[in-house]
Amino acid sequence: MSIKTPEQSRTIMTDLVLPSETNPLNNLFGGELLARMDRAASIAARRHSRRIVVTASVNHVEFNRAVPVGSVVTVEAKVSRAFRSSMEIYLDVWIEDRESGQKTKANEAIYTFVAVDETGRPVEVPELTPETDLEKERYNGALRRKQLSLVLAGKMKPAEATELKALFV
Ligand SMILES: CC(C)(COP(=O)(O)OP(=O)(O)OC[C@H]1O[C@@H](n2cnc3c(N)ncnc32)[C@H](O)[C@@H]1OP(=O)(O)O)[C@@H](O)C(=O)NCCC(=O)NCCS
Repeated sequence: MSIKTPEQSRTIMTDLVLPSETNPLNNLFGGELLARMDRAASIAARRHSRRIVVTASVNHVEFNRAVPVGSVVTVEAKVSRAFRSSMEIYLDVWIEDRESGQKTKANEAIYTFVAVDETGRPVEVPELTPETDLEKERYNGALRRKQLSLVLAGKMKPAEATELKALFV
């Protein structure tokens, strides 16, 4: 299986915030942003693996900045690390100023997707080699985040989480 780069999975989705997608403060509803990020992450995971992919876990979401109605929102997704069948997808969310066109980072999230066959069984995905400094930083932290997610899901014993233990010794 050929080795791929994060750039090969890069997915950019730009869309407006409509009134029906907002909360009582007229800002984008959190669940709507989660759905947009899930769609972008799913496309990135599919581009990396060229397989059917399913969301296994949402590892981290930061709603740092409210996104007002009428905003132009861009969600950028890239695979940050590939394991055996799972892929970590990093998402950056930007809003664009109407007059200047300047983009401001609004939110960020990390999802895990798993590639599966037609019966839903996990299948292997290509390896990933990071290229830029940011891609390398995200790649290096991904195993720690995978172990944390598995421990929180009760799928790994804390004693087996070597990367997490290494943080404290
Ligand atoms: C995701 C799914 C395929 C995992 O199946 P499984 O039987 O747990 O399979 P495995 O234990 O072999 O795990 C497969 C991979 O997922 C990873 N994984 C499973 N749960 C995880 C979690 N909570 N966090 C991070 N990674 C996880 C495993 O570590 C493994 O990774 P690896 O192969 O790269 O080492 C299965 O749980 C599933 O189909 N879930 C439903 C998915 C879905 O419908 N999503 C949409 C929600 S509406």
